[in-house]
Amino acid sequence: MDAPNQEFAFAGSLEELKAKGRLVVHGRHRPILVIYDRGRVFALDNRCPHMGFPLERGSVTDGILTCHWHHARFDLDSGCTFDLWADDVPICPVEVRNGDVWVKPTFGHAASHWRQRLADGLAHNLGLVIAKAVHGQLADQLPQADIVRQVALFGAQNRDGWGVGLTILTALANLLPMLPEEEAYLALFHGARRVAADCDGEAPRRERAPLGSRPDPATLKRWLRRWTNVRHREAAERTLLTAIAAGASPAVLADALLAAETERAFADTGHSLDFINKALECLDLTGWEHAAAVLPTVVGQMVASRGAEESTAWRQPADLVALCEEAANQLPQLFAAGRDHVWSDHAALARELLGDDPARIIDALKAAIRAGAAPTDLSRSLAYAAALRVARFGNANEHSDWETAHHVFTYANAVDQLLKRIGTADGDVTAVRGVLHGAMALYLARYLNVPPARIPGEGGEDLDDLPADAEEIRAALLNAFDRQRQVDLAARLVARHLTLGHSPPALIATLARAMLREDAGFHAYQMLEAGVRQFNAWGDTDAGRHILIAVARYLAAHSPTERAVLQTADIARRLMRGSELHQDAEVS
Ligand code: FES
Repeated sequence: MDAPNQEFAFAGSLEELKAKGRLVVHGRHRPILVIYDRGRVFALDNRCPHMGFPLERGSVTDGILTCHWHHARFDLDSGCTFDLWADDVPICPVEVRNGDVWVKPTFGHAASHWRQRLADGLAHNLGLVIAKAVHGQLADQLPQADIVRQVALFGAQNRDGWGVGLTILTALANLLPMLPEEEAYLALFHGARRVAADCDGEAPRRERAPLGSRPDPATLKRWLRRWTNVRHREAAERTLLTAIAAGASPAVLADALLAAETERAFADTGHSLDFINKALECLDLTGWEHAAAVLPTVVGQMVASRGAEESTAWRQPADLVALCEEAANQLPQLFAAGRDHVWSDHAALARELLGDDPARIIDALKAAIRAGAAPTDLSRSLAYAAALRVARFGNANEHSDWETAHHVFTYANAVDQLLKRIGTADGDVTAVRGVLHGAMALYLARYLNVPPARIPGEGGEDLDDLPADAEEIRAALLNAFDRQRQVDLAARLVARHLTLGHSPPALIATLARAMLREDAGFHAYQMLEAGVRQFNAWGDTDAGRHILIAVARYLAAHSPTERAVLQTADIARRLMRGSELHQDAEVS
């Protein structure tokens, strides 16, 4: 930011200004352009708010200043732009005293300024304006949660349904407590720009109202399943709104939604269920008083989604849907039998879930329940098994197959988070169908591990050719992400970092840095956040290491990209910090 300076700085004589038409004042502050136009004197930031081109090289006509790079136009008096993509030029006080011109290099904004700029940037999908507004709010010490809330509510109101933008925003907001300042800025920018892009050109959401009555939670849950089955969106939304209006707890709402969602198996390759989980997490971040605005946004996709039961792969040669239904009918008795038992064989169950016989996989789940496994034990094992699919993803697969492995993992993580939230909401275990469906999706993806990639450090593999110093390992990891097809090297470096006992949070921050500097695809955000969630559940153990290896392998397979988002964020940051971006620019 500019050096604090409450004093006026001498710009030049009025006579000189009149003769030249414009002067530039340099100092510890940002460069200030002073313009004489039709008997008045104006002072502005000399750096075009679009990309920093010196405005002294622009032209003034009829009180309008035009930048000579991309031709953004500004009201000379207020600095306000006529071209929203360029943003407004900050202005500063200027005085003429005894024939001399003085400027005061302060460009302060009202506290509400950056909030309004973020609203403008979101409404018009203006990346640079969004980046500056996020940076400005953070520089003004506004809580990160306030920015997340503003963006989330914009996204919920300006699009007819939950989308990838809100999912990315929520995933990144979940990671914020683990991110250094610079990565937090990037994360908020990524999330906000993806929400803006999602809403661009979309019809705003239409409000619906709850029913006038307040049926009990069990009835509302039954109704939600009924309306989902017959794809009746209006009815499902009103039912959900009624549950919210009745004061249903987050656990009860999650249980009702997961029960309805699992009326179909692995719907929309798991995205529909993941979106539900993210909408609930969004409310954890923004406040449950916004439940009626946020939660119904998931209903449209939930009722319209296509279940795996409609696909051949789930019916032939084995009827996986029938297997799931049969097991689902037995769930109440199985959990009753396992009550009062203690079970903790998560890793062993995960290995069984990676088997190649669907009936035996279901039997393994049933045996675990009988032995005392709770729903969250099953989902934890499932998520780990799905992470192993990614960690062992064979390099001979097609590149697009990464997404098949990713889908199962993020679905399994979402089921795990949902079941943790539900806890023992009402003793009904319908929602555990999500584990059965996830196990079958995992089974169908078994070809991705034929042959399996070796997990680094296993089988006596020596990693001593890699650096031992923590910072050197992390630098090497970032270097690996600079080049294509460094999947195995990235995995080895992660294994090296963790097996030497170096800090997992520092490693996670590096993985976040690696992703946030890329023009990341939707799945990369999901992968990182789900991986960090699962790592935190398992801790710095063999399983935790396998999970972060999976994350690193996926990210390495999708890096590098053009890094255009990073460039925009960097331009915004330099503009906000008062740097001269183009002092040596050639005039064309
Ligand atoms: S319009 Fe001025 S830098 Fe682009």
